[in-house]
Amino acid sequence: MDKRPIGVLDSGLGGLTVLKKVVDKLPNENTIFIGDQKNMPYGDKSRQEIIDLTRKSVDFLLSKNVKVIIFGCNTATAWAMEEIQKEIPVQIIGVIHSGALAASKTTAENKVVVLATQATVKSEAYTKQLHKRNSQIEVKELSEPRLAPLVEQNPSEEIKKQVVKESLAPLTDIDYDTLILGCTHYPLLKKEIEEVVGENKKIVDPADQVAQYTYNVLKRDELLNNEENAKHEYYTTGDAEKFKEIARVWMDDPTLDADHIED
Ligand code: DGL
Repeated sequence: MDKRPIGVLDSGLGGLTVLKKVVDKLPNENTIFIGDQKNMPYGDKSRQEIIDLTRKSVDFLLSKNVKVIIFGCNTATAWAMEEIQKEIPVQIIGVIHSGALAASKTTAENKVVVLATQATVKSEAYTKQLHKRNSQIEVKELSEPRLAPLVEQNPSEEIKKQVVKESLAPLTDIDYDTLILGCTHYPLLKKEIEEVVGENKKIVDPADQVAQYTYNVLKRDELLNNEENAKHEYYTTGDAEKFKEIARVWMDDPTLDADHIED
């Protein structure tokens, strides 16, 4: 039994899609969320920049005495997880292993598309992880610079639809049966994405498997919290009011509060 919170980080709102699944799976767990909105997008940054920014969020979460840290960010998982894990005693859980595992089980035709940020695609982390599980899987990685910032801007439904349609146009020339949402911001556009790709494609959100894996880790290490009335704290390096608007809806919590912190 361990009452310390689970830490979750991302460059912005995307990490909430992971947090939500974790909270649904582990309702007794206290959580601390940090979104580095001031510095988003991470997807167009260099390896060193991604490591330096992610390290700051990790240090913040460690100062809050977290028992495990979830990188609710594919870009940080791809470029910073291995490096930072060497520096800290707390276990880091990334999203890419989980996404690849889920997709390898989902694809019937062994044809997978990964939709992700430029940095994640450049790392080829998904291709490597998918091939570790099944070398027969044909993987196409498609980088998408507009979608994560679109989620942060939260424009009208019409604009969202238009940008998603334009961004996913290259998919029409690709033969695949499974699409990995390889950026944690994308589940916030799942409806719009589904409309474009159609019902016959399977969409994998790595967060489902991340939640299961987090449960497995906490159980294995006897870190589960059995007490009820979990507390959830939210921090952003951006505008706390704007953050709350979206977070309250997504987390289904009208009383959700968030604090601004300096990055
Ligand atoms: N949500 C992040 C990811 O999963 C990154 C978005 C960004 O900052 O570019 O990759």
